[in-house]
Amino acid sequence: MVPDDRQALLDAMMDADAYIFATPIYSHSPAGFLKAILDRICGPFTDATFVDTVVQMRKAGDPHFAHMKVDERVLKPRVAGFIAIGGSSTPDQITMALPILHTLIYPMHVKVVDQVVFQTCGTPGSIIARAQGSFVERATQLGKNVASQIGKSFDDASYLGDEPEGACPYCHLAKVDMFYGTENKIGCVSCGAQGVLKVDPDGIIRPVWNKNCGVSSITWAGKKLHVGDIHKESAAETFDIQNCTGFDLKRQQWREVAVPLVELPSQRAYCML
Ligand SMILES: Cc1cc2nc3c(=O)[nH]c(=O)nc-3n(C[C@H](O)[C@H](O)[C@H](O)COP(=O)(O)O)c2cc1C
Repeated sequence: MVPDDRQALLDAMMDADAYIFATPIYSHSPAGFLKAILDRICGPFTDATFVDTVVQMRKAGDPHFAHMKVDERVLKPRVAGFIAIGGSSTPDQITMALPILHTLIYPMHVKVVDQVVFQTCGTPGSIIARAQGSFVERATQLGKNVASQIGKSFDDASYLGDEPEGACPYCHLAKVDMFYGTENKIGCVSCGAQGVLKVDPDGIIRPVWNKNCGVSSITWAGKKLHVGDIHKESAAETFDIQNCTGFDLKRQQWREVAVPLVELPSQRAYCML
């Protein structure tokens, strides 16, 4: 592992009562630097349901959890807001910006209270001048919205951002995964909530999201479900490894596999005619 600023950033995140993540959009997504930082700090490293389970089991006197090291600072209630900024003007260029921001912090059970994408701001400084200054006003409002919810628990903090038509009730985005089948089942790309597509009397197809579905990773129940799934699968992985004949030899063979070198087209002499 390369030495880095992980501990300092983790401490700063644990000290904070609120986060505002602001990122340029690169390739329809948040900046890779931001993702790399959060990949090293969030996910299983700061999973609130895991920390909570360990704390509860210790209180109950379960010896299996006695020596497990967890960071109880994770359990402090926190709120967040997201700002993503892109140069494009069309919806196809920003698709994964907000969903990925959600996936980066949902394990900490942080309540996202506002989120916004600003487009047509590709030139440095242009955000101040675009849309008659309304983008900066909206960003200011986002800051106020986040500040207004600081100190509230996940359930008590209110979502104050925009609600697009057909939005999932958990992440407030309308990003749909299609599972087809006779029931027209759908999933939320950002948080995994489930629902169905229904044709309304006006002929328009709309999503109907399950309330309290207990599957969305944004909910406590959804996170617990995921942690349970990972524990079950890792036990099955260990079992398969232990019962795989010649596992060590097979792994060594894969590590030593010789990939034949071939001449690539770019290495050949280029002929214009
Ligand atoms: C590599 C790269 C990829 C980009 N991809 C997108 C994109 O998918 N959608 C979009 O709206 N803007 C895109 N942009 C424009 C940037 O979002 C915009 O210029 C950005 O806000 C500039 O921020 P920066 O100066 O901090 O890099 C891209 C810019 C770069 C350099």
